Amino acid sequence: MSRFAPHPRPLEPPASPTRIPGRSPHQRSAVLRHSRSWAAHLEKACLAVVWGFGELMESSDRYTFGHCERVAAFAADIAGVLGLEQLQLTTVRVGAYLHDLGKVRVPREILNKPGRLDPEELETIRKHPVWGVELLAAVELPWDIAPIIRWHHERFDGTGYPDGLRGAEIPLNAQIIGIADAYDAITTTRSYRPAVSKRQALEEMRRNRRHWHPDVYTAFVQSFTHRRHAHASPRFDGMPGSGAA
Ligand SMILES: [Fe+2]
Repeated sequence: MSRFAPHPRPLEPPASPTRIPGRSPHQRSAVLRHSRSWAAHLEKACLAVVWGFGELMESSDRYTFGHCERVAAFAADIAGVLGLEQLQLTTVRVGAYLHDLGKVRVPREILNKPGRLDPEELETIRKHPVWGVELLAAVELPWDIAPIIRWHHERFDGTGYPDGLRGAEIPLNAQIIGIADAYDAITTTRSYRPAVSKRQALEEMRRNRRHWHPDVYTAFVQSFTHRRHAHASPRFDGMPGSGAA
């Protein structure tokens, strides 16, 4: 399907009935039901924490209110066009909420500074992908989102940061979040620039399409023809463990 290597890390599957010795079929079935219910409970708790992190990050940057949810919606659409499986789709959406986690270490005066950043400030803000991975290092989530956090600002032509990866070195999930993030940044007002229209944003991204893998860019453009949502989507609706249909 894709030439990119996915980075899924599923929850441990419940034990197979044949691996639960000394129990009747009825008892084994009850154990499995309990195990699955516990896994679903844990996943739900993780998603609640993820959502809370997203809100916390947005509260530190007054220009990015709703950013995580919009990026999650755009990214889910792109992932849908690319035909990603459910686990990877969930990973992308969780990554959308946490991709800028490291910005909590960036001083607010830099995040909200009007106008251009000086080189030192730019260097500080460009540390946020690495800081995000550091902050999450001790947290064991069932989705492998570290590659998204670290590499969502990498570019296909090698001009991104923090590692200057290029081409297929950049994981697909990170590229999806990267292009969704870029679109939302262009179409919303930031401290350093006013918002531009959807049409102007698409034109700007067409001019800069070398920043993304051709398949990702094409899926991004195609996602607009499939999209009917406004600028937000319900939180985690339809995600595994969300309780939604
Ligand atoms: Fe970022």
